[in-house]
Amino acid sequence: MLISLKGVKRVYPLGKTEVKALRGVTIEIKEGEFTVIVGPSGSGKTTLLNIMGLLDLATEGEVFFEGKDVSLIKDREATRIRRERIGFIFQTFNLIPVLTAMENIEIPLVLKGIKGARRGKLSDEVMEAVGLTDVMFHKPDELSGGERQRVAIARALIGNPDIVFADEPTANLDTETGFQIIELVKRLNEEKGTTFVFSTHDARIVKLAKRRINLVDGRIEYDSLKDSIS
Ligand SMILES: Nc1ncnc2c1ncn2[C@@H]1O[C@H](COP(=O)(O)OP(=O)(O)O)[C@@H](O)[C@H]1O
Ligand SMILES: [Mg+2]
Repeated sequence: MLISLKGVKRVYPLGKTEVKALRGVTIEIKEGEFTVIVGPSGSGKTTLLNIMGLLDLATEGEVFFEGKDVSLIKDREATRIRRERIGFIFQTFNLIPVLTAMENIEIPLVLKGIKGARRGKLSDEVMEAVGLTDVMFHKPDELSGGERQRVAIARALIGNPDIVFADEPTANLDTETGFQIIELVKRLNEEKGTTFVFSTHDARIVKLAKRRINLVDGRIEYDSLKDSIS
């Protein structure tokens, strides 16, 4: 088991009140899975991904990463695990405007202290895999939406993470581009065995997933097909 959550709650303080974003989520993610989290806006998808990706702590409940209890993990240790094991693809891409596509992609390797020829080799490989070789010296504002998202994917993949989280990765893309992005990710899942967890409300992505988790109002809702479609 790569990641497991038991009875996870996340409460955000909001002025004098609070928002119950997750109300007791129990879930297991196995290695090699391609899982999609589906739910309306405000159902807790981003909150759930942030907790599974060690970007945030649960208010209540337990979180395990490879069997190790990380429910109360310290920032420094969480950062280390994220750097070595986890990739993130954000809805808004989060690219650095003054850097080229290649430089953006290489950021995780720079943070790991990987230099020179080895860094170049790894970025060449990943740019080839996602089809960015021709535009590697372009800055983000010289790239199309689909190319920017591919830069974000390449950056998430370059460190060869065990698991990649993607928060509505096609939300800002046109239909055709979004579809290509998902096909690309699916291929990487099948070829490299990288575990992917997506959030979306895009029906086509849902269809491609091996496993679907419905999130409604901070809870997992099991439909007639349990939580799996194939
Ligand atoms: N930092 C925050 N402070 C207060 N409330 C938040 C915060 N982040 C999210 N929320 C609330 O938590 C709930 C779940 O949000 P979120 O996880 O972003 O859902 P989704 O990604 O499915 O749209 C929503 O009601 C949202 O308004
Ligand atoms: Mg969200």
